[in-house]
Amino acid sequence: MNIPVLTIDGPSGAGKGTVSRAVAKKLGWHYLDSGSIYRSLAIAVLNAGVDLHNIETIVEVAQGMRLDFECGDELTVILNGDDITSRLGAETTGNTASMIAAYPEVRAVLLQKQKDFQRLPGLVADGRDMGTVVFPDAKYKIYLSASATERAKRRYKQLIEKGIGANLDQITRDIEERDRRDRERDTAPLAMAEDALYIDSSDMTIEQVIDKVINLVR
Ligand code: C5P
Repeated sequence: MNIPVLTIDGPSGAGKGTVSRAVAKKLGWHYLDSGSIYRSLAIAVLNAGVDLHNIETIVEVAQGMRLDFECGDELTVILNGDDITSRLGAETTGNTASMIAAYPEVRAVLLQKQKDFQRLPGLVADGRDMGTVVFPDAKYKIYLSASATERAKRRYKQLIEKGIGANLDQITRDIEERDRRDRERDTAPLAMAEDALYIDSSDMTIEQVIDKVINLVR
């Protein structure tokens, strides 16, 4: 059976999450936030106090991890029975996720968990390697980017709105460091699939990006 997949890859802060959720809702398709899988593993690893260089134990934690996603207006994530939603967005979680995501052994364990999201009537999958590695045969592929300065400003605004103290220069440095790590790793680096449509969202509103993506699918 041919289940349609729309992949949306790109660096952190490009608006992938917001766009993917909105597009999935409009199409009535399922949604895979693959970053939240890596973030959940980061939390599991931090909870267990595992040294971030200890690949073998990180793989064991990944294999034993039981994840449940509840997709309401916001995504709720249950890790081994505990609601970890409020910790998913933390900078420590994202930075730890990016470190452990560089290990091929870890990516191999998480691959099937991601493929399992492909269900009728269709799937919108958001991440770094959705169009290149996880769903290379996807019918629709997008690469969504924006300048690092613009992405840092958006992240800063989000944190301030949530009442979390933030420093723009530090966020810009973290984003650049995370981009570098995601692009330079040997396994499944952040890269545009050859058959993807490139969208630069720096000077676009979220609604304009959503319309452009919906037009591609319809
Ligand atoms: O997208 P998000 O910022 O939630 O992802 C957190 C980290 O997880 C990324 O910086 C990246 O290192 C890793 N990731 C990945 N592959 C994906 C999704 C996320 O390596 N498909």
